[in-house]
Order: sequence, then structure tokens, then C-alpha cells
Amino acid sequence: MNHLLKLQDLSPEEITRILDLADQLKYEKKHGIEHPYLKGKSVGLIFQKSSTRTRVSFETGVHQLGGQPLFLSSADLQIGRGEPVQDTARVLSRYLDGIMIRTYEQKEVEDLAEYGSIPIINGLTDYCHPCQVLADLMTIREKFGKLEGLKMVYIGDGNNMANSLIVGGLKMGMDVAVATPADHKPDPAVLEFAAAYPDHFTWTESPEEAVKDADVVFTDTWASMGMEAEKEARLKLFQGYQVNDELLAHAKNPVMVQHCLPAYRGQEITEKVFEDHADEIFEEAENRLHAQKAVMVLLMKDPQ
Ligand code: CP
Ligand code: NVA
Repeated sequence: MNHLLKLQDLSPEEITRILDLADQLKYEKKHGIEHPYLKGKSVGLIFQKSSTRTRVSFETGVHQLGGQPLFLSSADLQIGRGEPVQDTARVLSRYLDGIMIRTYEQKEVEDLAEYGSIPIINGLTDYCHPCQVLADLMTIREKFGKLEGLKMVYIGDGNNMANSLIVGGLKMGMDVAVATPADHKPDPAVLEFAAAYPDHFTWTESPEEAVKDADVVFTDTWASMGMEAEKEARLKLFQGYQVNDELLAHAKNPVMVQHCLPAYRGQEITEKVFEDHADEIFEEAENRLHAQKAVMVLLMKDPQ
């Protein structure tokens, strides 16, 4: 593993290794055991979109690993004025030991990896959100003690979260069911990936059908970053896709509910469902820190 660009690039063994190390780092953090694996290293954090969790968990995560995080807003970088990502990659590779980037196009992340010479971590693109889904898998495994054989369901927009959940869930032996409107399906490349798991993947327009016997139900905003102009239209379009008590009555009882956050109560999830499952949703948010620290250690720690 040289980068974290998308979950398709990782083997199930590599994902398990990340989750195991994340569990260990979480234990060590809770017990005051220091783990300065990135001592003397600098990690650039490039943001072309807003963030609360990703920014703070990466900044504190690098610090806890003994390294130096650099928050780099694209508004302040020359990238924001048109300097090509290929040049940015080659320059930053000479100063930094790794880069996390949150941006729009997946190609930009892949280009950074191609032209740079240091590990690149995808902190969200329009296509996928691998850091989030590693934390999600960690949270599910913590609760159930396993991933294989569990039924994961995603309800809503076929967006970056849907794409990464499908890939991550299927790779780890889960059954994955997705319900989206027909014209907002997950990415075609992801559906092609899922086609290799015909007994473990279903897509449907019907949330009730998808959620049947679910162990864990995910949803996400109906209007992702960059889609602000479509927000009003999307609020109408996704009306039947809310995660509420009536829908969850079709799932297993009890069912786990996850949301990557930020959540829009009354839209993709009701206030009641959100608050009933707040503990597991905020555990999921916390696990971003531990899962990303594990990724950075595996990518950036000096060999012994
Ligand atoms: N879930 C997530 O990535 O949150 P932020 O947008 O706040 O980073
Ligand atoms: N799908 C959302 C996820 C936010 C963490 C977005 O891209 O805005």
C-alpha cells in the first residue's frame, strides 16, 4: 500500500491491517500510551471543500503521532490560482512526508499520487470517501465483533459515501443493499465492481426492500458539497428516502444506524432516529481519528 486513493486499491488483508492497527491506537490513546511513529515528519492537509471532522481529526492525529500537520486551504495555495496539480505535487513532495487532500475530482487525487513521490490520502472527492468508510468498518466491527455476513444498507443519494460503502462492505464479506432513485444510482464503475459479487449486492429503488433484515443502516446528505444549486430540487426528489422509524421497522431489531455527518435532521434522517442512535454515530465520528492515524502510520512510518 503506497497511497489511499480509493478502497478498490486495497486488499481485504490490507483493510484488516488498518482496522487492527486503528483498534490498537485507540486503546493506546485511551490508556495514555504515546505512539510517536511520525516524529519529525510533516503532513500537508489540502482542503478545496469545507470540513469539520476530516480537518480536526487529521490535524490532531498527526500531532498525536509526533508529526507536524500543515493545514493548506486551496484558497491560499497557488493551486487556487491555477498552478497545475502536477507541479504542486512535485514541489510539495520535496517538503512533506505525506499529503491528505479533499477536493472535487478523483483525477486530481490520482494525479497528485502519479506526479508526487510521497503517500497521498484521499480525504473525500465527489467519487469516494475512503477514510470515512474505514472508520465506519471499524465502528461496525467494534459493535458486532465481525464484518463478514452482516447486512449493510445505504439509503439515499448514490454519492461518494454510497460508492465507498459498497466497495468496502463487499471487500470485507458483507452483504450490501443500496436504495437510491433510479437517476441517482452509485457510480457506474462501482456498480461494475459490485457486479462481481452477485450474491452479496443489490440495488433497488425501494428503501423498504433494501432495509429488510439490515444489521446496519447508513444514510448521508441528499445534497453533497458542490451540489448547493440543486438543493431545493433534491429535497423533493429524495422525499421517500428518509431513514425514519417506519423504515427501520423492516430492519433487524435492534439495528445499528450510521451517518458520516454532517446530518440534516428532518431530511435524510429524523431527529428521533438520529438521537436514538447518537452514541453509535458519534463513535463513528471519533473513529475517524483512529482509522486515519492507522493509515498514516502504515503509509509514512519509517521502516524499522
Ligand atoms: N464526515 C466528514 O468527512 O465530515 P467533514 O466534512 O466535517 O470532514
Ligand atoms: N456526501 C457528503 C459527505 C460529507 C462528509 C459530501 O460529499 O458533501
